[in-house]
This record gives sequence, structure tokens and C-alpha cells, in this order.
Amino acid sequence: MQNIEELDSPPVVGETYLVPCMFGRIYLLSSAQSKPPDWWPVLRPSHQDSIYTAQTRSKWKDGEFTEETYCEYDSKAPHHYHVDPRFASAELYTAWEVENKDWHNVIDIQGDIRWSEMVCLREMPTQRLFTGFGRQFVDDHKGKKIKCGRCPHRGVLLNSVPVHDGIITCPNHGLRFDAESGVCVTE
Ligand code: FES
Repeated sequence: MQNIEELDSPPVVGETYLVPCMFGRIYLLSSAQSKPPDWWPVLRPSHQDSIYTAQTRSKWKDGEFTEETYCEYDSKAPHHYHVDPRFASAELYTAWEVENKDWHNVIDIQGDIRWSEMVCLREMPTQRLFTGFGRQFVDDHKGKKIKCGRCPHRGVLLNSVPVHDGIITCPNHGLRFDAESGVCVTE
């Protein structure tokens, strides 16, 4: 049985894989509904939202003001996972979500990860899989830069994320950055 996290190519629709699952309540963001606790397939890692904002301030140095970037943290936001739409049934989503391909649903954490055998139900390009927010999210972040070594969206540390073909992909929601310039190049 192949572990989904160890694949070097996309999972095949109809095949069975070992998938990380989390017990918790799932929140369907676009519809503001929630479903009762159950085991849901999740994308890792777990993370907090609202943990980070990158800001700039003026600093007096060598007889002139220069702009510098600094980071502020809010550690009160709850940790959560997102559903892995490759292994979640269509009934999980509203018609709106399916139509708009907005798969960005949240699972609160009520325990540890369990590995379950699950069938891959649909193909999902990596970018769609992780961003899951739809077009507006991509447009809002295009051209933004990595700051303090962190993703400009929710501040995930990108220092140890491997570079592939000159691109760093944020593991949380899939924004892609040019490794040289740090600019978001997600299309
Ligand atoms: S934290 Fe959301 S894309 Fe990086």
C-alpha cells in the first residue's frame, strides 16, 4: 500500500492509498455549514491562520530613512487541517463549492493523525489541490514577495521547503514563488 505522502507522481484515480485522516468537525467555508465529527482525509501540515503579518517601517540609518520589513505574530488562532479533496466524496461539498472549485474547507483537530486506506476519487492538479480558494485568492497574491523567509499569505516558514525548477511551493495553500526573487508567480 503506497503512502500518499511518499508518491513522486499524482495518485491514480480508482487506486487505493494510505492517507492521513484527522478526527474532527469539518467546516465548509463557503456555505458556513459544519458537519459532525468524523474521520476526514487531510492535507498536511496543520497550521494557524492569522499568525503573521509582514509590515514595513522606516528606520533611520547612516543619515537617511530606509524601509525595513518586520513580522508580527498572533498565536491565538486555532490550529487546523484542510480536507484532501482527492479522497473526499462529492457529497461533502455544496454545489457552489463544486462549481467554483473552492475546496478550502477546515477540519478542527480533535486527536492524532490516523492512516486509512482510501480510494483516490478525482484528479486534482497540485495547484488547485493546495490553493483551493479559487481565482480571487490567486489574483490577490500574484506579485507579492516572500518576507522574513515566510509566505505572504499566512506566514509559513519557507526556508526549508525544497526548490523545484527554481520554484518554492508553499505547503499550506500552494502559492508558488520564484526562488531567486521571492515573487509569487502563481498563475
Ligand atoms: S500560507 Fe497560504 S499559501 Fe502560504
